[in-house]
Amino acid sequence: MRNIYLTGFMGTGKSTVAQELSRLLQVRIIDMDKALTEQFNMPISKVFEEQGEGTFRRAEKELLKKLSKNEEPLIVSCGGGVVKDPENITIMKNSGTVFLLTASSETLFERLKNDNERPLLKGRLSVEGISEMLLERSAMYERAADIVIETDGLSPGDIAKRITIDVHDVTML
Ligand code: S3P
Repeated sequence: MRNIYLTGFMGTGKSTVAQELSRLLQVRIIDMDKALTEQFNMPISKVFEEQGEGTFRRAEKELLKKLSKNEEPLIVSCGGGVVKDPENITIMKNSGTVFLLTASSETLFERLKNDNERPLLKGRLSVEGISEMLLERSAMYERAADIVIETDGLSPGDIAKRITIDVHDVTML
C-alpha cells in the first residue's frame, strides 16, 4: 500500500476525514498543518505574518517530500495550498493516491465563517470570496486528483467509508 493523500480547499473536512480513515484502515495519519505548527512552534497564521507565505510553502514542500519517502504507508491530510506547487503534485502522484474532497462555496462558508486561524481567508470570508479562491485553485486541485469525492451532505464517517472502498478498488491494500 502507498500513501493516501487527502487534498481539497480549506474546510472540506480533510483532517476529520483523515482521523476516521485512520481508524478504519489502521494506518497512521500525518496532518501536515499540525506537523508544521509543531515545527514552527507557532500557529500557521503567525508564520505567514512573521516569516511570510514563502517560508511556510518551503517547509510544507520539505515535509511532503519526507512523507512521500516514508517506509510505512501513511494517511496524509494535506494543507489546502499544497497543490499550488506543481512539483508537490508530482511528489504525491508518484508516492500514493490523491483524493480530492470538494464542497460548494455555501457549505464551505458555513464551515469557515467563524475561522480566524487561516491567514488566506482574512478579508475574503464570504461566499463570493470563497468562490473566487475556489475558481483560482480548481484547475490545480483537479490536476492533482486521482479520485474526487463531493462531500456536500456527507458526514466525515460516510466520506471515510467511501475512501476505503476506493482504496480497495485501486488495490492499494
Ligand atoms: C492553506 C490551507 C491551510 C493551511 C494554510 C494555507 C491554503 O490548511 O495550510 O493556512 O493555502 O489553502 P487547511 O486546508 O487544512 O485549512
